[in-house]
Amino acid sequence: MPRLTLVGTLLLLAGAVIAGSDPTLTEPLSRDNSDECDCYLVSGPDPGYFQYYRFWDFRNIFSEGDEDFNNPPPLVTSSQNSGGQDVTAAFFDTNEWNDDWSILNDLEEPNATVPSINSAQNVFISTENGEDGNDFTYLTFRASRPSESFVSTAEIDSSQDNVLHSSIRTRARIIPLYLDGSAANVVAPIEGVNASHPVAPGACFGFFTYRSDTQESDIEILTYDPVTDVRYSNQPDFNARTDEPVPGASTQSTMPDGKVWTDWHDHRIDWYNGISRWYVDGDLVLEKSLDAPTEPSALLINLWSDGGFWTGNMSVGSQVTAGLQWIEMAFNVSGVTKGPQHKLGKRKRQKRCSIGCNIDGVQDIGTPIVAFNVTGIKGDASDANGKVSIASQLVQVVLAFWAVLLTSMM
Ligand SMILES: *[C@@H]1O[C@H](CO)[C@@H](O)[C@H](O)[C@H]1NC(C)=O
Ligand SMILES: *[C@@H]1O[C@H](CO)[C@@H](O)[C@H](O)[C@H]1NC(C)=O
Ligand SMILES: *[C@@H]1O[C@H](CO)[C@@H](O)[C@H](O)[C@H]1NC(C)=O
Ligand SMILES: *[C@@H]1O[C@H](CO)[C@@H](O)[C@H](O)[C@H]1NC(C)=O
Ligand SMILES: *[C@@H]1O[C@H](CO)[C@@H](O)[C@H](O)[C@H]1NC(C)=O
Repeated sequence: MPRLTLVGTLLLLAGAVIAGSDPTLTEPLSRDNSDECDCYLVSGPDPGYFQYYRFWDFRNIFSEGDEDFNNPPPLVTSSQNSGGQDVTAAFFDTNEWNDDWSILNDLEEPNATVPSINSAQNVFISTENGEDGNDFTYLTFRASRPSESFVSTAEIDSSQDNVLHSSIRTRARIIPLYLDGSAANVVAPIEGVNASHPVAPGACFGFFTYRSDTQESDIEILTYDPVTDVRYSNQPDFNARTDEPVPGASTQSTMPDGKVWTDWHDHRIDWYNGISRWYVDGDLVLEKSLDAPTEPSALLINLWSDGGFWTGNMSVGSQVTAGLQWIEMAFNVSGVTKGPQHKLGKRKRQKRCSIGCNIDGVQDIGTPIVAFNVTGIKGDASDANGKVSIASQLVQVVLAFWAVLLTSMM
């Protein structure tokens, strides 16, 4: 175990014990694949933990009936200019999906240079032949320019809209044009496609926390940027009054080790009190305190374009697709949410964190590993309401104190 993690874990252990009667754990179902954890520890400079966890895995979606995940749904046509299309797969009609996400399906920005119109037809499941010979599926977003008059775009919003601080991640990429989601999975550039920039310019892939245009922390990939570069911002990054960028609010960052966003990488944003941090494949690449959001937010994911300064223009007839294998979110909440109201899980939530789990450095993403377990220490000192007796708290504080002391002597 790396030392930082050990120190962090022990500090957390102390914190968990001192916060023994914390009444804020109300959500019954952990929804991590281990179903053993009360709270979730993330890697990084702040030894913090989160109370909630979600893992949405799109790698093994089964097709139903005549659904064919090897072929994308038809492009939105120039006459389909007001949204309202059907969802593209039975998966998007399940409670599993609808409890947590909504697919936007209408006009987004009527007054933009080129209006963007979200369509459910641009959110679909694709298949890829994995390097190990195993096929896997992924969630796909598409943006296209059916005509001069609009761009057809894609967005999903989380129902969980009371997130206050989180560590969110996705394994994603912009699909290169020579790998267009078709059955063939062509690996050589096709004629007319620039091999060093095999993506149409003019679209923006966004993965971000959102409450309002001034309460937002983003990961954005601009498809006109070099394939090595990602934009990280806390909003507002643009001053509408002076029509100028806000200095320091947005950073164009080159991914480490020559990585490109046309390959699968794990993109992560940690939103803590007063600071946002961005990671690629677990490596910290940037942190920013300016304008870190302070209000409860939702998670939004989109692929959009509006002909403006930020995205540029897509040319008529062009398209961009983005893929997501999974989304992972460890988070705290504040206030009520419009969803999800899940039914009770098989294991009742404790009102304190007795079992803390690491979500990073685990063998299977989405299956956290137990880092500490103080269930035994608590013994039968807890009453039915989760209150811990003074005596048992004292014992725990002493134990935690020793743990921290031992660590500091290492
Ligand atoms: C999440 O909430 C718990 C309980 O209030 C708190 O101890 C912890 O520090 C919070 N985590 C972060 C990263 O803010
Ligand atoms: C678009 O512009 C019209 C006319 O200026 C205005 O009334 C309307 O509120 C604007 N819509 C949005 C969504 O900004
Ligand atoms: C291909 O893309 C690269 C990187 O954006 C650019 O430098 C180059 O000029 C492009 N080549 C052509 C033929 O457009
Ligand atoms: C995009 O195209 C429109 C015309 O359709 C033009 O008015 C606008 O300036 C263009 N945007 C950029 C960033 O070049
Ligand atoms: C935690 O510890 C208790 C008591 O020792 C044990 O019964 C339980 O199985 C442990 N849970 C996990 C997830 O390790």
